[in-house]
Amino acid sequence: MAKSDKSGTRAIFVCQHCGREELKWLGRCPTCQEWNSFVETTVAAQASSPRHASPVSPPQELSQVVIEAADRFSLPLAEFNRVLGGGLVPGSLMLTGGDPGIGKSTLLLQVSALVARARGRVVYVSGEETLHQIKLRAERLGIKGDNLYLLAETDLEISLSQIEELSPSLVVIDSIQAVYLPELDTAPGSITQVRECTMRLMHWAKLSGVPVFIVGHVTKDGAIAGPRTLEHIVDAVLYLEGEPFSAYRLLRCVKNRFGSTNEIGVFEMKEQGLVEVENPSKAFLSQRFAEAVGSTVVPVLEGSRPLLVEIQALTNPTSFGLPRRTANGVDFNRLLLVTAVLTRRIGLKLGNQDIMVNVAGGLKIGEPAADLGIALAVTSSARDVAVDPELAAVGEVGLSGELRAVSQLDRRVNEAARMGFKRCLVPKVGASVTPSPKDIQLIPTSTLREAIRVGLVSKG
Ligand SMILES: Nc1ncnc2c1ncn2[C@@H]1O[C@H](COP(=O)(O)OP(=O)(O)OP(=O)(O)O)[C@@H](O)[C@H]1O
Ligand SMILES: [Mg+2]
Ligand SMILES: [Zn+2]
Repeated sequence: MAKSDKSGTRAIFVCQHCGREELKWLGRCPTCQEWNSFVETTVAAQASSPRHASPVSPPQELSQVVIEAADRFSLPLAEFNRVLGGGLVPGSLMLTGGDPGIGKSTLLLQVSALVARARGRVVYVSGEETLHQIKLRAERLGIKGDNLYLLAETDLEISLSQIEELSPSLVVIDSIQAVYLPELDTAPGSITQVRECTMRLMHWAKLSGVPVFIVGHVTKDGAIAGPRTLEHIVDAVLYLEGEPFSAYRLLRCVKNRFGSTNEIGVFEMKEQGLVEVENPSKAFLSQRFAEAVGSTVVPVLEGSRPLLVEIQALTNPTSFGLPRRTANGVDFNRLLLVTAVLTRRIGLKLGNQDIMVNVAGGLKIGEPAADLGIALAVTSSARDVAVDPELAAVGEVGLSGELRAVSQLDRRVNEAARMGFKRCLVPKVGASVTPSPKDIQLIPTSTLREAIRVGLVSKG
């Protein structure tokens, strides 16, 4: 039974896999179907829980609420600001997730140093690395560290009281899995600890007005500390992504209470830390081998930002069993759709071919506007004919082999022009671009068949 004792705690049972709470023990979790996952846990009783401890404030008429404008602090790191929707918001709690070793500590140490220089004290709480390790990293990153205070402490209550004495302008907790609240009787990193610590920090951030970053490790199924437990509590969720083989890192915002969620920031991991990539299109195309068979350039949109990416395809006779389709960086179902349209409407024989599609540089494209690029790359490989190297292509492919309009065509075409492309295949529907770009020729096409005829360099 859940009973509160005098110390202000109560016992409940918490699924260690998904965080579901029950008043009594269950053999199997009704939410995630995990067996034997419930553990008896002491949590702060509701009465003293931070969620309810805020000072009582009377209802206020919306028209009377005053906005303290311009208090968003923009960092001298444009890619980071972009992702945050303009800069740091006072009192916001931001979660930064990412695979092990992707560069979370590096990024936040760099951000800490920038804030320390521009705004005064920053406290970096490290529960995972020693001060010595952080110093070594700071030296490599060229950070002197004035105004940057390190705290190697895992007890969150002690950390917060130390932090309060410094009255910092930013706090970083690296990581949320390493800190704990002593009044709870579970181990650091358990679902209960992670959640209660996050709520404690949320409360602290809101009361003090200090922005707080927490680092969260991603579990093997891709969620931070148990599926979606933390995402709901915090104000913003950032993911640092990248392929192990590539030095590019994408900072992506998946939740933001203060801005748009589809902005990305592009960085490159170097010896001196994460360096902003000012011209991502150039970077993503830098290793492109013009006139390569099976390669197309597509202007995709990431948030409001146009990016040129190279889509590569390789077709190869199936040697055993069913033909395989592999999609790296493009949506698998879009690849299947495009393959089916190429087979049925264009007459390309792909039934006995393995198809691999890859996006160079480790970027992931979600939008159907890349369909035409996939189709051209696959056709190019299957026919062993290169795509026109000065051509970019964009368009959604429909099931009858028609090309469908894409959003914000002008931005895409202008980006292609800026990167020196001479021609751009676009869907005929909605093919007007204003002002009409000077250095690039628009080629409006209404069908995939027509686009392939124009886009592939004729043999001989
Ligand atoms: N000397 C170096 N030169 C270039 N890159 C380096 C160097 N040392 C470390 N790195 C990069 O930094 C990465 C580790 O960064 P960091 O420790 O910030 O990651 P993290 O996400 O905090 O990892 P963890 O999950 O272990 O906390 C390495 O994977 C590597 O890519
Ligand atoms: Mg780290
Ligand atoms: Zn569960």
